[in-house]
Amino acid sequence: MATVNAGILGTGHAYPEGILTNADLEKMVETSDEWITSRTGIKQRRKAAPGEYTSLFAVRAARQAIERARIDPSDIDLLICATVTPDQILPSTGCLIQAELGANNAAAFDLAAACSGFLYGLTLANTMVRCGQSRLALVIGAEVLTQYVDYTDRSTCVIFGDGAGAAILGAVEEGRGILASRIRSDGRFAEQLYAPGGGTRLGTTPETIAQGLHFYKMKGNELFKVAVRSMADVSREVLEEAGVRAEDVALFIPHQANQRITDAVAGKLDVDPERIYSNIAMHGNTSSASIPIALDECVEAGRVKEGDYVLLASFGGGVTWGGVLIRW
Ligand code: ACO
Repeated sequence: MATVNAGILGTGHAYPEGILTNADLEKMVETSDEWITSRTGIKQRRKAAPGEYTSLFAVRAARQAIERARIDPSDIDLLICATVTPDQILPSTGCLIQAELGANNAAAFDLAAACSGFLYGLTLANTMVRCGQSRLALVIGAEVLTQYVDYTDRSTCVIFGDGAGAAILGAVEEGRGILASRIRSDGRFAEQLYAPGGGTRLGTTPETIAQGLHFYKMKGNELFKVAVRSMADVSREVLEEAGVRAEDVALFIPHQANQRITDAVAGKLDVDPERIYSNIAMHGNTSSASIPIALDECVEAGRVKEGDYVLLASFGGGVTWGGVLIRW
């Protein structure tokens, strides 16, 4: 069967108006702007207000991507919502977004791969478009992580923020679009970032809630090393597969987990620091939304030009990681 190349036809992003600054956090836990800035690079993060939920931001981001791709929602035949903070257990947030958008001809579902969710989604959508199973795919990364953050735990509450990013994927000319992509996971590290309660194992009971088992727990310093190694390795793999040199990458967007992780990954690859995008200061870690938000910010700022090599790399809970190389 003849295959086509899949590329990004439009992007969008959205986030809550509410801002939580380091100064706000100083009043909540024993921390300081100096510690947060020097250890993470984060200055502020967006925080959804009570009553604001994941699909609200996903729909806003998706509408922007649809408009910029100049398509009709009814033309979308695949809708993937990467999230670990769904609106509700059933149905999928993807189906709720589908209804809001009027994307009535799409197969819609959720994908849980934490911070790697968007790259997992891109990889699946790429395969579906390439083999002719999908003509236009909408891939979203959307999270309201702050609802799962324990604001008495200083090791996690300073990190996470809320938001959504989206991309429309469709056929592009030969030599353009997604040139290579890899997704990976290793469940042996599952308990380095996890929420023990709220599922079928422990359920949601007054006891699990009183013990805060629905909140995210993270062994940050152990994840740090795995994150750096995995993102650097997978970046090299996709570059090698596509036969592209790191120095030819015009824009590198790593998952925005921590500025020190970004710097360490950059140090392992031969990418000019000026070509590495970082918005961690403004958004914190928005998990699956981090890469599509950053990508859309770059598109809006004119930082991506036709023909550019754009490298995306992610790492997240699971643990999961992935790399995608695009020729814009
Ligand atoms: N303010 C002040 N002190 C703090 C804070 C805080 N907010 N948080 C932790 N500390 C203290 C610790 O208690 C510890 O004190 P001690 O030495 O007295 O015990 C000290 O700072 C050092 O703690 P570490 O955890 O070793 O600090 P580290 O430099 O590793 O930074 C961080 C922590 C920012 C979490 C970092 O490890 C990190 O970013 N890790 C990676 C996270 C990641 O990539 N997660 C996966 C993706 S996210 C997803 O999938 C949703």
